[in-house]
Amino acid sequence: MKLWSGRFTAELDAVAEEFNDSLPFDGKMYRQDIAGSVAHCKMLGATGIIPQSEADAIVAALGEIMRDIESGALPLVGAEDIHSFVENALVARVGDVGKKLHTARSRNDQVATDIRLYLRDCIDGISALLKSLASSLVKRADEHKTDAMPAYTHMQKAQPTTLGHYLLAYANMFMRDIERFSDCRKRVNIMPLGNGACVATTFPIDRELTAKLLGFDGVSQNSLDGVGDRDFAIEFLSCATQTMLHLSRINEEFVYWSGSEFGFLLLPDEFGTGSSIMPQKKNPDVNELLRGKCGRVIGDLTALVTVMKGLPLAYNKDMQEDKEPLFDAADTLAISLRVFTAFVDKVKFDTDAMNAAAAGGFSCATEVADYLAAKGMPFRAAHEITGKIVLWCLQNGKTLQNMTLSEYKKFSPLFDKDITVAVSPKSAIARRNVIGGCAKDELVRQIAVIKAALESI
Ligand code: ARG
Repeated sequence: MKLWSGRFTAELDAVAEEFNDSLPFDGKMYRQDIAGSVAHCKMLGATGIIPQSEADAIVAALGEIMRDIESGALPLVGAEDIHSFVENALVARVGDVGKKLHTARSRNDQVATDIRLYLRDCIDGISALLKSLASSLVKRADEHKTDAMPAYTHMQKAQPTTLGHYLLAYANMFMRDIERFSDCRKRVNIMPLGNGACVATTFPIDRELTAKLLGFDGVSQNSLDGVGDRDFAIEFLSCATQTMLHLSRINEEFVYWSGSEFGFLLLPDEFGTGSSIMPQKKNPDVNELLRGKCGRVIGDLTALVTVMKGLPLAYNKDMQEDKEPLFDAADTLAISLRVFTAFVDKVKFDTDAMNAAAAGGFSCATEVADYLAAKGMPFRAAHEITGKIVLWCLQNGKTLQNMTLSEYKKFSPLFDKDITVAVSPKSAIARRNVIGGCAKDELVRQIAVIKAALESI
């Protein structure tokens, strides 16, 4: 039965009904819808807007409805949306008293409240998943804090670093994601219930009480904004997009690291998949999907900002289109974080291959320039001379590591025998002992900073 049949003389056209109904997807919010109704009803009883005995009967029946949905005894079918479904079920159980539940409320403030409750739960779950991912990355970084590998700029070998330093870079990104979600939560956790259809209600409701019962931090201050606002949902999608973007970046690294050209990463059997024709293959499908799913969540964000663009106040049915992108992004992000954390815990790195690659591509050229600059030569001049050394090496089939001291001296008298130590990746790494650098002690410090932050969350 429709919540609004009084004004109508004909049934809704079947296709229009199928098109209009949102129960197939908003049924997912039954817990939040029932929790919102329970709190609203308790408030109606406490303020005397409806008799306390009737409020008690409604609350008891809502509890039964929740149990029956959870057990499968009450399948989520046969109503326009989750709000109508719960109200119909209530009236079926307690009769006309159930029809009082919607006093001083509209589906417009109800749905906005449900989504906020739903997203609040999502944020808490996602934050916990992000926390375990960051912890796993920190653990792996700690194991590999002295294993050399090349750092790249423009995808060309740039300077030597360590695998620990590399993994911590991503741990920092995921730590920022935790902060971003927690900041987003502040704006999600504001209650629009009591805003009614658009200009609040004539009943003497106690919004603070309802908000307290539902664990909201505050109530929306303008009813038109309260029912017309989906900023918090866009913000959630933007946070989700940012995290998926980080996942896509690290998984792109892992995809190319796993290829035979790099050979930095040994794909665990548990996370690789085979080819139907090429027997030798072990493909990084999980990592590729983690890279690709980002596109889907960007799509979710794009969908909602596009729906909201140019929408006048207050509620418009267009806004029903918020749910599928939100649910899709939340589900995609949660499973992505779960699978990737399991992958990080299991993956093995070929540290010999990484170490061998660390010195290639003249990655220690900056060390030569720094060596001369440390001896008093202006850095720009040191850079010029080092460039000439690299060119000479390329023309003569030499490397910075196998050049002799007399060959170095032809370029500058400042070179001494310690230059051979200076151009080793090991020394290049060890000397970067400044905040943010890749030296072992500095990585120990960086790890401690992240661990302390994780403990304080
Ligand atoms: N299913 C609707 C939605 O998700 C609920 C609100 C309906 N309100 C209305 N005025 N038709 O947005």
